[in-house]
Amino acid sequence: MIRVAPSILTADFGQLASHIRSAETGGADWLHLDVMDGSFVPEISFGPVVVKAARSATSLPLDVHLMVSAPERHIRSFADAGADLLTVHAEASLHLHRTLMSIREHGMKTGLAVNPLTPLQVYRDALPLLDLALIMSVSPGYGGQAFIPGSTRRIASLRSWRDELNPDCLISVDGGISTATIRQVCEAGADVVVAGSSVYNAEASVQDNIAALREAAG
Ligand code: DX5
Ligand code: ZN
Repeated sequence: MIRVAPSILTADFGQLASHIRSAETGGADWLHLDVMDGSFVPEISFGPVVVKAARSATSLPLDVHLMVSAPERHIRSFADAGADLLTVHAEASLHLHRTLMSIREHGMKTGLAVNPLTPLQVYRDALPLLDLALIMSVSPGYGGQAFIPGSTRRIASLRSWRDELNPDCLISVDGGISTATIRQVCEAGADVVVAGSSVYNAEASVQDNIAALREAAG
């Protein structure tokens, strides 16, 4: 069964704790936290303080996605804040092996993300070191963007490498996931979907939105 990881980026931060709890009671598997630094991506979102607040609001695993330059500078802060899994971008960390080892040494699971046109080749060598491989299906930086169609083919390629090189590593897909796109992503081999604006929106409750995604996943 597909794991659903709601991203709180489009939640109401004035009511963050209750919005996080609604994901937990609504059937989320993980909570996805999008950290943006205004350098690697244009926007600034939040940092370890909000991750710590999320940690006290829920017992869901915290899946922290660092969209920051030189993420190795912040590993200890996110470990201390209570992150379970820390994902860094291949494009953002020069000494990626050292960065991934440091995430492990700080007691967290390792994740590696790649932007939509970054060659997947890095995964051939990185997969044995990873707990999560995250395919971006939009250019990172904003919630609510349209799913890039070629992402499905990339998920399928990664899936065959994953099965060969590290069957324990989960494949996650992030960006533009909705009832219209979730099925193709699952069929291509994703284990986890990140969903922001299709979970936290004005149209329906978090619980109904998560249920609709699961239904559409098939
Ligand atoms: C994009 C972030 C995503 C984003 C997903 O930069 O990494 O996690 O919040 O939002 P939706 O689901 O609205 O595309
Ligand atoms: Zn994300």
